Amino acid sequence: MNSNLDNNAHWIDRDLKVLWHPCTQMRDHPHPIPLLPIVAAQGCWLEDADGKRYLDAISSWWVTLFGHGHPAIAQAIAEQAAKLDHVLMAGFAHPPAIELAERLLKLVGAPMSRVFYAEAGSAAIEIALKLSFHYWRNMGEHRRKRFLVLDQGYHGETIGALSMTSVSLYRQAYGELLLEPLFAPSPDSRLAAAGESADDYAQRCAAALEQMLVEHEGEVCAVVLEPLVQCAGGMAMYPPNYLQRLRAICDRRKVHLIADEIAVGLGRTGALLACDHAGIRPDLLCIGKGLSGGTLPLAAVLAPEHIYDSFLGEYGSGKAFLHSHSYTGFAIGCAAALATLDLLETAMANGELRQRGEQLGAALAPLQQHPNARHLRRCGLIAAVDMTQADGSPFPAEQRRGLAVYRQALQRGVVLRPLGDTIYALPPLSISAEEIDVLARVALESLEAACA
Ligand SMILES: Cc1ncc(COP(=O)(O)O)c(C=O)c1O
Repeated sequence: MNSNLDNNAHWIDRDLKVLWHPCTQMRDHPHPIPLLPIVAAQGCWLEDADGKRYLDAISSWWVTLFGHGHPAIAQAIAEQAAKLDHVLMAGFAHPPAIELAERLLKLVGAPMSRVFYAEAGSAAIEIALKLSFHYWRNMGEHRRKRFLVLDQGYHGETIGALSMTSVSLYRQAYGELLLEPLFAPSPDSRLAAAGESADDYAQRCAAALEQMLVEHEGEVCAVVLEPLVQCAGGMAMYPPNYLQRLRAICDRRKVHLIADEIAVGLGRTGALLACDHAGIRPDLLCIGKGLSGGTLPLAAVLAPEHIYDSFLGEYGSGKAFLHSHSYTGFAIGCAAALATLDLLETAMANGELRQRGEQLGAALAPLQQHPNARHLRRCGLIAAVDMTQADGSPFPAEQRRGLAVYRQALQRGVVLRPLGDTIYALPPLSISAEEIDVLARVALESLEAACA
């Protein structure tokens, strides 16, 4: 039993006096949005200061890969922290950073041959944007200053990454501060015209994107996209043929393809990378979030040798990539990532990922029959459904039905945190069949209660 001094009310009171929470209108706390002080986490479960447990169906913002408190990852962190916590990476190196780079390159394969570390996904996006822009300068192509992104895309919140983000919720206050990318139509399968297949719609979007590159020939550095699932943009899914088409278009139009696999990479879609479903490799690959198993902030950009080579030159030539973050390649994070990759490789090899994805799909299938649910979709262990009025039209935004689902699910002991009125599940890859059933039951009950 917790004493009154460390229960939920106690921590909420202290929290609201000192903290400023991310992605939050602080006036919404503690009503209508509850604030939960979490004091422990194990496997797929979080525990609050009152001792109530919650199934973490969204992997704590999509980072937890093999559950909280995984003993192998915890041990790797503890051992590394005792041996070498951190050393600056300019002029110095250490075994975990080298071993992790070797391991990532082997897993991802050609043409990737270099790894540049970052701490957060947004920082990885900044790095990829700068690498692409700087590469073209190094190649004497000074007119290339723009990027092309997809409607509904999300790439982070720092100024460069936010510039590449289309979701207006995040952009709106900062529009005047941002770079101006070109926006191409989202291949989101839900946007296909009546009678048009998802594949045909995706092909149509790819053709429109190529036309934009033709109109801006020689001006674009790279196309930046989230492969297969536009996560923060509403778990919008699209078919792999779009990626194949884009790979060919980027080659034809001589622009880089930057794949932001920060959310979808490392097993979430059932494969190592979402790009694997299309059998393609980008020119620059960003990974993050689950890289450390969800324990420490670590991200990375993988690049091929010809991009790396273009940065070699005389001292003072302006070619070197002088980007630096204090914690670049920190040893404890790399050790956590190495332990995570052990788990991921095992899960991929024994078919667990595919099996869990299918279980999730089967458990959520009853949602399809619900009059307030549309577009049930799944890609690996990412699943989503849109909550609508019975006639299929959206609920008025001010009714905040998604928030109602969130509250209903919390009461039932599950963390579902809808994106607007899109309910989604993105659980740890290690979720059990029983936990999937809990998740699915609570999703249905919460949808029902929120629509009542
Ligand atoms: C696709 C994608 N890219 C980039 C980011 C930014 O990552 P971070 O929050 O680690 O900066 C996110 C975060 O949700 C993301 O989903």
